[in-house]
Amino acid sequence: MYSVARFLVFAIVSVAAAASPLASASSSSAFPGSTAKVPGLNAVANAAGKLYFGTATDNPELNDTAYTTILDNNRQFGQITPANSMKWDATEPNPGNFTFEGGDVIRDLARRNGQILRGHNCVWYSQLPDWVAFGNFTFDELIGIVENHCGTLVGHYRGQMYAWDVINEAFNDDGTFRQDVFFNVTGTAYIPAALRAARQADPHAKLYINDYNTEGTGNKSTALQNLIKELKRDGVPIDGVGFQCHFEVGGVPTTLVENFRAYEALGVEFAVTELDVRMTLPETDALLEQQKKDYQSVIDACMAVPACVGVTIWDFTDKYSWVPGAFPGWGAADPWDENLVKKPAYDGIVIGFEDR
Ligand code: G3I
Repeated sequence: MYSVARFLVFAIVSVAAAASPLASASSSSAFPGSTAKVPGLNAVANAAGKLYFGTATDNPELNDTAYTTILDNNRQFGQITPANSMKWDATEPNPGNFTFEGGDVIRDLARRNGQILRGHNCVWYSQLPDWVAFGNFTFDELIGIVENHCGTLVGHYRGQMYAWDVINEAFNDDGTFRQDVFFNVTGTAYIPAALRAARQADPHAKLYINDYNTEGTGNKSTALQNLIKELKRDGVPIDGVGFQCHFEVGGVPTTLVENFRAYEALGVEFAVTELDVRMTLPETDALLEQQKKDYQSVIDACMAVPACVGVTIWDFTDKYSWVPGAFPGWGAADPWDENLVKKPAYDGIVIGFEDR
């Protein structure tokens, strides 16, 4: 009798897992606060009603089999963002000369693993090839270049992307537009041009504007909301907003939920797109505990607002974090440490999804 019952439980769980590889096969809510038997972050996110929990990854890391064993587990990560290989310098290094090799490797990986893809990104002032950054363009020339880049890039991955960060980091921190080559030559005309080209190239991909320091209320967030209102008023396709969420330990904005609700009220979905929480090194138990709370706060805020579709961390291990390179003396920003061991932050994410 005991063995029959055990078989039945096994069979039911197996069928559920086979029927829905992206969904949680068994509830982990029986183990609140303990990650010992939690099947993975994407599984708990799905069980909580979110579309995905995902991570960024980058091509050079894919030789590390200890790393890819975790990356490839779609119960842990149901969504992948390429950290670099779909950016302009990687995909159109010379005018009209497109290369998708690196991006295709990430696309193939996600497809193999049954993971959703977010495209990152079409138009950004950084990681631009010199021919764009220092080109001496007329308005019409640059609009044509933006349309061709976005259309070709998004078109190459047509039908394969959940969403694209079409516009990345268009604002200064005071809410004025960033004075990059795109703004200096076209004003804000490059924004609708890019969005329309992306829509035409892939009608099913959600089109996002992605930025940082827009997570809490303030001038920059207000400016982004105003842009979304204008785009909607003008009939320009805009589906979503990405909140990067590169935070410092103890520095998660207190107005996340209020701010997120304002975007929901505008009729767009949104996602946490690049979450990490850096600390001054060396790490201490107290900093790791605060980091756990900070990760939980972000998940709590996503859970509090239905328009939040999912959460992506900007790589999952400190081994490959961008933080120490960009902020000397800072690091340890991710939920797995440099030895691929889970940190308290991992539990913070699980609690955020489960504890309600
Ligand atoms: O490709 C060159 C390689 O040829 C060279 O040997 C090597 C030597 O340093 O540099 C390589 O380029 C690096 C590139 O990543 C690819 O690995 C750049 O130096 C490095 O600065 C660049 O950093 C990326 C950064 O964007 C650039 O701003 C990070 O990996 C990437 O994680 C980061 O991602 C951004 C998002 O796109 C937008 N939001 C912020 C986020 C963090 O900065």
